[in-house]
Amino acid sequence: DNPSYILAIETSCDETSVAVIKNGKEILSNIVASQIETHKRFGGVVPEVASRKHVETITVTIEEAVEESGIALTDLSAIAVTMGPGLVGALLVGVVAAKSLALALDLPLIGTHHIAGHIYANQLVHEMEYPCLALVVSGGHTELVLMEREGVFQVIGRTRDDAVGEAYDKVARALQFPYPGGPHVDRLAQEAEGAVELPRAWLEPGSYDFSFSGLKSAVLNVINQTKMRNENLDFSKVARGFQESVIDVLTEKSIRAAKEYGVKQLVLCGGVAANRGLREALTARCDKEGLPLLIPPFSLCSDNAAMIGAAAYLKWKRGEITTQEIKGEPTLSL
Ligand code: KG4
Ligand code: ZN
Repeated sequence: DNPSYILAIETSCDETSVAVIKNGKEILSNIVASQIETHKRFGGVVPEVASRKHVETITVTIEEAVEESGIALTDLSAIAVTMGPGLVGALLVGVVAAKSLALALDLPLIGTHHIAGHIYANQLVHEMEYPCLALVVSGGHTELVLMEREGVFQVIGRTRDDAVGEAYDKVARALQFPYPGGPHVDRLAQEAEGAVELPRAWLEPGSYDFSFSGLKSAVLNVINQTKMRNENLDFSKVARGFQESVIDVLTEKSIRAAKEYGVKQLVLCGGVAANRGLREALTARCDKEGLPLLIPPFSLCSDNAAMIGAAAYLKWKRGEITTQEIKGEPTLSL
């Protein structure tokens, strides 16, 4: 068989990313042009600014990814792109670029779901087995996704308010860290000696849903109260308390669901999968339960196009090609 080469584009939020993937496994290039420096001064991603940055960056990022891959445009087998969910203007830039390439090169176009991408980031480095359960934790998503087989997704739990990464970023902001603050809170939590006691949102018995806004408010309360009393607050203990609460709930619910559905693997993914505390806690717990755990390397946790290429490859193999009619769909469901 001839090797397959998929060029994948990801522009759903604040990274302009383009990758070339060989045979669904081998990353020939994975360029990630981050807009973090641009959005930092606003304390978060500004959608309009993100779209403009994508427009400025997409062409050179495509050129760079093709050049680094060492293959010619004429060798490509398909063009993949994130269709959603995400910021509508940001998605549109990637979708239009992908459509143009597919049209010009007469190649199949594979519209891909962003979360499927996060999940299949694991496929680039591991062998996924089904049924499996994915814990998707990012700046925009917190979901438990049951997969009976490849390409079939059932969301059995989701956040009812903030996504985990969003909660991390808000807490980080209250602790005076720049956007995105997740990694700062993670580092501070590792350094802490002791933790501030904070609540855990278990919700109704049996529920696999999550809620993080109460925890975030509890953190803000602790900060405000110590300020009012003119007392000193050890920020590292706040970070540790917050992180422990998040990890407890994520770990407990994932393990419970994994057992209930009898899955062969637990799969961790999304930007917050880079969290060291979460990786360690889940690894320890899965070891104890004898449940295989897959985690992507750090470089494939946050938004990147290689993961979109990995998900697209599986769709392409199954013959699931999209038409030129696709658009960016900000609320696309899995
Ligand atoms: O998946 P991602 O790159 O973008 C979305 O699709 O949302 O995730 C970004 C999120 C941000 O909220 C960021 O603060 C968080 O992931 N994050 C972390 C860590 N690294 C990134 N949160 C906690 N601990 C980390 N080490
Ligand atoms: Zn993401």
